Amino acid sequence: LVLGVDSSTQSTKAVLVDAADGTVLEQRQVPHPEGTEVDPRAWLDAVDAATADLLPRCAALSVAGQQHGMVARDDAGAVVRRALLWNDVRSSSAARELVQEWGGPAACAEAVGSVLVASLTVSKLRWLRDHEPENAARVAEVLLPHDLVSEHLCAPGTEVFTDRGDASGTGYFSPAENRWRPDLLASALGHEARVPRLVAPGQPAGHTAAGAGAVVASGTGDNMAAALGMQLDTDDVLLSIGTSGVASMVSPEPVSDGTGAVTGFCDAAGGFLPMSVTLNAARILDLQARWLGVDHDELSALALSAPAGANGVALLPYYGGERTPDRPGAVGTWTGLRTETTRADLARAAVEALACSLADALGEILARLGREPARVLVVGGAARSAALREVLPAVLGRPVLLAPPAEYVALGAARQAAWALGGEDQPPAWVAAPAAEVDAAPTPAVHERYAELRRATEAWDG
Ligand code: XUL
Repeated sequence: LVLGVDSSTQSTKAVLVDAADGTVLEQRQVPHPEGTEVDPRAWLDAVDAATADLLPRCAALSVAGQQHGMVARDDAGAVVRRALLWNDVRSSSAARELVQEWGGPAACAEAVGSVLVASLTVSKLRWLRDHEPENAARVAEVLLPHDLVSEHLCAPGTEVFTDRGDASGTGYFSPAENRWRPDLLASALGHEARVPRLVAPGQPAGHTAAGAGAVVASGTGDNMAAALGMQLDTDDVLLSIGTSGVASMVSPEPVSDGTGAVTGFCDAAGGFLPMSVTLNAARILDLQARWLGVDHDELSALALSAPAGANGVALLPYYGGERTPDRPGAVGTWTGLRTETTRADLARAAVEALACSLADALGEILARLGREPARVLVVGGAARSAALREVLPAVLGRPVLLAPPAEYVALGAARQAAWALGGEDQPPAWVAAPAAEVDAAPTPAVHERYAELRRATEAWDG
């Protein structure tokens, strides 16, 4: 048996899996505190609670985690301050400053695979240098969330480690050259700091302390683990609709996009995983349900009772600022409200806004990679929305495949654990659950109106 852990923004999920075929035998979930800065101790308590009875039963385990979070430690190994997470936008001007210092967007993407935005770890280090110099001066080592959780599960004394997938989201790692760029880390923070040891794909990284000592694999970022869990093919696009919205595609070549719309990350299997990432996804539906005083099923029913185009109501859903497009100062903006507007129109507009933001992310990745996908696979909590299932193919103008509900990030981590345990060249082939195709008559006018609103509000961002 192998154990896969997903230390995500909202909770820790753990799955105990049969290493032979990928069957999930048991599953646990423990919530995390809310907010965009979190005491990392909470993740360690959550993983202890989620895995307590599963750990002694596994031969190998692996931890996937939310990408980019800044976990800074001092020389004694103490965490310097609460971790700043991927969805914390306070470092947006630090990101812009670094991009200029490094020679502009194209040079930046060339060096580290991505044009820096607030999400990336390196932007948070620069923010720390400028706003909390005493904390910055104490930083001796910088980790990612999954690195800290993996270390916690390993025998004491294990040297902290990571993989190239999660490393490629820091902004001080070169995907093309497959190496850390300590010089760039130092240029952001103002002095040098240690980074974790890199473990190659499929290799064991350590052992647990408890019992006979299970193999611990390198772990990776949550999006890289989702690709492993979905057994993504090279001509698949994965649309993941969780706290963030992500369109990703496996690539054998490194990708460097100077426009910043696509980040050139590495995957967890030796290749690359370019992605287009939005900050506002499931939250769009959560807020709308709260504001209308309904649950998610009622929100769906309301949305489906309004016509496509929501009787002229449209929403730009950048409630938490946005990353794709890079508009950290943006706010949510409604248009087309009239005396006749109904609650159903509002519900419909929210669902259409989510579908349109995903259409933007998908469009960016296909344009930059110049590839036409054979399949668009959809996963994530918001894919449970009956309204989104109907609206998404209509807005995208193409059918989508809904993967059956499962913890694909945790499952991908489990697959990585099985790979490290088995020692083969490739991760094991597991039985893939059949996905259901959904299609709908295209509604191009919905996305056109959204694009108009996006253009019209560009000058408003604070
Ligand atoms: C990816 C990103 C998010 C987080 C979510 O770049 O920032 O998808 O990984 O956990």
